[in-house]
Amino acid sequence: MKIGVPREVVQGEHRVALVPETVSKLVGSGFEVLVQTGAGRDYNPDEAYAEAGARVVPSVGELYEEADLILKVQKPTRSEVGLMRRGTALICFLQGPAFPELVKWLAHAGVTVFSVEAIPRISRAQSMDALSAMGSIAGYKAAIIAAEYLGKYFPMMTTAAGTTGAAKVLVLGAGVAGLQAIATTKRLGAEVTAFDIRPEVKEQIESLGATFLEPRQETEEVEEDEHEEYEPAGFAKFMVALGFNSFAEPPERKAEKNGVSEEKPDGTGKQSTGGYATLQAEEKQRRDRELIREQLKQTDVVITTALVPGKRAPILLTREMVEEMAPGSVVVDLAAENGGNCELTDPGKIVDHQRIKIIGPVNVPSTVPIHASQLYSRNMFSFIRHLAPEGELVLDFEDEITDGACIVHDGEVRHEPTREALERGTA
Ligand code: NAI
Repeated sequence: MKIGVPREVVQGEHRVALVPETVSKLVGSGFEVLVQTGAGRDYNPDEAYAEAGARVVPSVGELYEEADLILKVQKPTRSEVGLMRRGTALICFLQGPAFPELVKWLAHAGVTVFSVEAIPRISRAQSMDALSAMGSIAGYKAAIIAAEYLGKYFPMMTTAAGTTGAAKVLVLGAGVAGLQAIATTKRLGAEVTAFDIRPEVKEQIESLGATFLEPRQETEEVEEDEHEEYEPAGFAKFMVALGFNSFAEPPERKAEKNGVSEEKPDGTGKQSTGGYATLQAEEKQRRDRELIREQLKQTDVVITTALVPGKRAPILLTREMVEEMAPGSVVVDLAAENGGNCELTDPGKIVDHQRIKIIGPVNVPSTVPIHASQLYSRNMFSFIRHLAPEGELVLDFEDEITDGACIVHDGEVRHEPTREALERGTA
């Protein structure tokens, strides 16, 4: 099987899908590798690929003509799709649901496409998880960007002119990127607090030396009436103002009164009941925002990384919340490409709003191209070995990894969210 690695054409993309180290492993496993001249940029010269056993080809047309499997980082452009042979396989970050038209062209071109971000995040696929590898790089770099733009030291400094305090960092979302942002800002000497809607990450946050932001009553194990402090807000407040006093009661108590049990009939846990569940979710969101807002008063840097898979990034920082921050504060919004966790984020730009900088960096892993390419390349090696254990592509759709990652095969769009996006587009 011939594997082709073209030079990435998207502006600002400095990564390459395979580095020489992986090429020699693939060649050693019986694959033939073709690399386009200059694909490795300044970091991986053509000679290193040739030494590793690749055939370096100057013509991209020749590469696409010969290769059975094309490896890329970015999704292909329309002209790259035009170069692909019917029956060729492609692996890249496709983002199918966001670019359904591109997926349609690929299906028409008869290309089989595997999307790296669709590889299921299961333990068997950990070595192929490029999303985590890149998320971790993004978290690290977000900390560095914040340090660059904050007009303060991150660590506490004792100098002949006196002591300066450590910078205070708040990380919102403690998944892969968030945990790396916490670890890096901690290493730089900042005082770090982090918040996530999943309480189970508390232990991970604390193991990195940071503080988990949680409501006071949850930390103090007080067995008081949990409804006592309830203040109606939003829709409930509006209804109370209109005289509907039952809205002055906490939703929990109202549900109890109405005979809605908190337990499922089998006694295993909470039961969601339509509007009640929505009210609870809204109330939780309001409380989370209040918690964050309170913390912002003593925060110099916010790094946001909150993501709900398949959805627009949740807004955690509103304009008003940003306006309450101290002048000179910095927000780094890693979710910029996904809609942003901050209302003021402009993807790819630095917004200066009332002396606060809101930075929305895009394609952050490409700014650390040497390690990003090395890690991506190792992910690719594991994925290729999974798809072609004997040296030829085997499409076993009974396998969870192959099935989950394959977006297009035989002219058919197999990926449900991408199909839905296509249907929405044609409706
Ligand atoms: P992840 O799925 O590992 O973590 C996301 C975390 O956000 C989860 O722990 C989740 O519980 C939390 N979360 C969801 N809703 C929340 C809410 N309302 N409040 C607080 N936490 C909430 O994702 P990962 O890999 O860490 O990526 C995070 C973000 O960084 C994503 O938006 C991703 O697109 C972005 N990213 C951006 C890059 C760039 O170049 N700008 C590169 C890589 C990732």
